[in-house]
Amino acid sequence: MRVSDCDVIRDLWPQCKASIFKRANEVMLNIDPNGIFVAEEVDTGKIIGYCCGVKVSPKLGFIGGYAVRPEYQGQGVGPVIWKKVMDYLGDINIALFARTQEMGEKYGEKWGFQMMKHKRLVHMTGKVVLNDDICVKSIDGITVCPITTELLPGVTEYDSDICDGIDRRLFIDGVIKSPETWNLVAINERREVCGYCIIYRALCHVTVVGPLYADNEHIAELLVTRCLQLIPEDRQQNVLYYSWNINLKSIEIAEKLGLKLTYNRPIMYSKQAIDGKLDKIFTVSSTMYYPF
Ligand SMILES: CC(C)(COP(=O)(O)OP(=O)(O)OC[C@H]1O[C@@H](n2cnc3c(N)ncnc32)[C@H](O)[C@@H]1OP(=O)(O)O)[C@@H](O)C(=O)NCCC(=O)NCCS
Repeated sequence: MRVSDCDVIRDLWPQCKASIFKRANEVMLNIDPNGIFVAEEVDTGKIIGYCCGVKVSPKLGFIGGYAVRPEYQGQGVGPVIWKKVMDYLGDINIALFARTQEMGEKYGEKWGFQMMKHKRLVHMTGKVVLNDDICVKSIDGITVCPITTELLPGVTEYDSDICDGIDRRLFIDGVIKSPETWNLVAINERREVCGYCIIYRALCHVTVVGPLYADNEHIAELLVTRCLQLIPEDRQQNVLYYSWNINLKSIEIAEKLGLKLTYNRPIMYSKQAIDGKLDKIFTVSSTMYYPF
């Protein structure tokens, strides 16, 4: 895939009902320029399908986008691009979020991906309610501010500690510099990062919270509430907050914000599950990039 293909792929996603960060592929091509494949019709050059399987670290791959234009589905195009991605990723551990239980079972049967039994991604969705009476307004000793260039190294280090040592500087920097994204970082009295939150506009009129990482649920709640206050009101109507089903404190925050559990789906690995610091992960970054 070339950067010039990004617009075409952006058009393809809504046809497949996917609510994905608008500039996901631009950011991803920076992280791994060789991991995104498109299928083109030979005669016309028209892009008819796409699969993204990037190396997010030397030992971890992530499959985060797999779609074929509706009118070309059911003709075997998907499996060909998929195989290309699997060959590219080779023998490293690969993670993915299956869109449905059924697709997850196919990835299991045909490719040996293992579905986590106790850990699933839950979609908390709806219109957010920012009610001062129920949300944390401030915490003694904690300052909340936007992620500046000076603060970025501290955020990256904090993030890496949560995400199994993976360096995600390009990802964080790429997302926060993209249009229609909002972010905040929480800093304690020793000037240490103790949480951060990004919210981004996705396709299909959805606004997504992710990542929301924090040392505890109070900081997480403060960050997400303040960050949601930054976004235009029309963007607060259809919010998607990806949490783990096992993080009850995170689900409680989402419920306080008026969001409801609408869907859950599997996380899968080809070799070995990698959790990261689960107690600090309140929402995962995105289903396109990383399993954290
Ligand atoms: C999923 C999708 C990319 C498959 O592409 P496609 O070209 O339509 O694939 P085909 O239906 O021709 O594939 C042939 C068979 O292989 C299966 N298959 C397709 N991709 C597969 C994969 N990566 N692994 C295992 N099985 C796969 C199909 O389900 C089908 O099986 P069936 O004959 O038992 O129904 C396409 O249907 C699509 O874009 N769906 C909407 C987006 C989506 O749901 N993406 C998946 C996210 S998990």
